Amino acid sequence: MSADSALPLVLLAMAMAMLHLTLSSVAATSYPDFQLLNVKQTLIGTKIPRPIETSEYHEAAGVGENQGKWKLKLVHRDKLSSNAAATFKDYEHRFHARMQRDVKRVASLLRRISAGGDQDGGAAYEANAFGSDVVSGMDQGSGEYFVRIGVGSPPKSQYMVIDSGSDIVWVQCQPCSQCYRQSDPVFDPAGSASYAGVSCSSSVCDRIENSGCNARQCRYEVMYGDGSYTKGTLALETLTFGRTVVQNVAIGCGHINRGMFTGAAGLLGLGGGSMSLVGQLGGQTGGAFSYCLVSRGTDASGSLVFGRGAMPVGAAWVPLLHNPRAPSYYYVGLSGIGVGGTRVPVSEDIFRLTELGYGGVVMDTGTAITRLPTMAYNALRDAFIAQTPSLPRIPGVSIFDTCYNVSGFVTIQVPTVSFYFSDGPILTLPANNFLIPVDEAGTFCFAFSPSASGLSIIGNIQQEGIQISFDGANGFVGFGPDVC
Ligand SMILES: *[C@@H]1O[C@H](CO)[C@@H](O)[C@H](O)[C@H]1NC(C)=O
Repeated sequence: MSADSALPLVLLAMAMAMLHLTLSSVAATSYPDFQLLNVKQTLIGTKIPRPIETSEYHEAAGVGENQGKWKLKLVHRDKLSSNAAATFKDYEHRFHARMQRDVKRVASLLRRISAGGDQDGGAAYEANAFGSDVVSGMDQGSGEYFVRIGVGSPPKSQYMVIDSGSDIVWVQCQPCSQCYRQSDPVFDPAGSASYAGVSCSSSVCDRIENSGCNARQCRYEVMYGDGSYTKGTLALETLTFGRTVVQNVAIGCGHINRGMFTGAAGLLGLGGGSMSLVGQLGGQTGGAFSYCLVSRGTDASGSLVFGRGAMPVGAAWVPLLHNPRAPSYYYVGLSGIGVGGTRVPVSEDIFRLTELGYGGVVMDTGTAITRLPTMAYNALRDAFIAQTPSLPRIPGVSIFDTCYNVSGFVTIQVPTVSFYFSDGPILTLPANNFLIPVDEAGTFCFAFSPSASGLSIIGNIQQEGIQISFDGANGFVGFGPDVC
């Protein structure tokens, strides 16, 4: 694996969203400096996506369970039939709502890190973190990507939000003293032969941050930064992923829940801590999983694959870094960014994770838009503007300050944006991952945003279409080689 880590990676986007990905050992400066972005094609993709029906979801879930891996279909919230057409009339509304959620998500990540050493956002929250103004806007819902899994025996199918930045697996549970609305019936432990409560003396209970005890049963409590929370009983339960059955997974059985997880029954924590699904599956999967977030505006679904067999040959591997202040988060070493094949003049130090746990670069599935420290963002944006003199600028929209009216163009040429990782690999993004439509009329914005803090976050729009693999046991994240 380490032999591969020296190989740079180039991702090229061609017109008509034809992606070609090649591994190359040539110097960064010899990469193509410009790409074509097909404006017309991209705008067609802003039409309301064809929603995925639950029946359809069942058929496709859990394919490819062999060679030490199992695969689930991964769907963006805007494609769930319960949300898509009903919630937001058009692309512009959906997009603005997504940006509002994004601002909350980033604020919550920052709070969790500054609170420090707190695995699930629970312990370090001030009592007023919910019930106050942070709750407003929560009706937009939490969670961007969903999978469908079976809970209990016999398995009851439930939608789960996936979150690479948190560590607990939980579902809403009967008897429910407070539950938000979800699309499937709320899970009832009384109807499951495999449900087993965890006692307070169990070592599993010790591993939960903010655990408690009630009638000798282990209690858990997780509060998320957007005002959502879940409280209930810790249990061991069987989870079914397609045809793969995993017994004795420690899950939170939430009797008091708040937040709109967009109809999902709960959350599948995929973070780097021991209580996340990946942490618990350690022995069976070697802490390995891989995902593909499918590009906006396509009818395809993404995928989430568990197991060592999911680790691709030929990916560009980058070491993961650990931050004791935020053990759930997957940090990567970034040394720079580039535009049009030229490194933007910012010091490598700006991306460094300090010994005290500040700064650094987190890979997050729950954040849409990549955040960079203001100095780095400004330098990146200025370089991009300098290399797009012929594109008509218009005033900023939403969280973006660099937008263009390209309604009169069929295709446009844009300079390549690249991430330079610490020990060599270079990830060059497809044009659709950094110049994105904010309405159906042809307003496109440069999809990066400044962060008020030193923390950088690589968001899901920048990750789209690229196979991303986490090898927790060996401490690497891989990019490519597949496009999806
Ligand atoms: C964008 O340009 C078109 C002409 O190509 C014009 O009709 C339209 O009003 C412009 N939109 C904005 C928001 O400037």
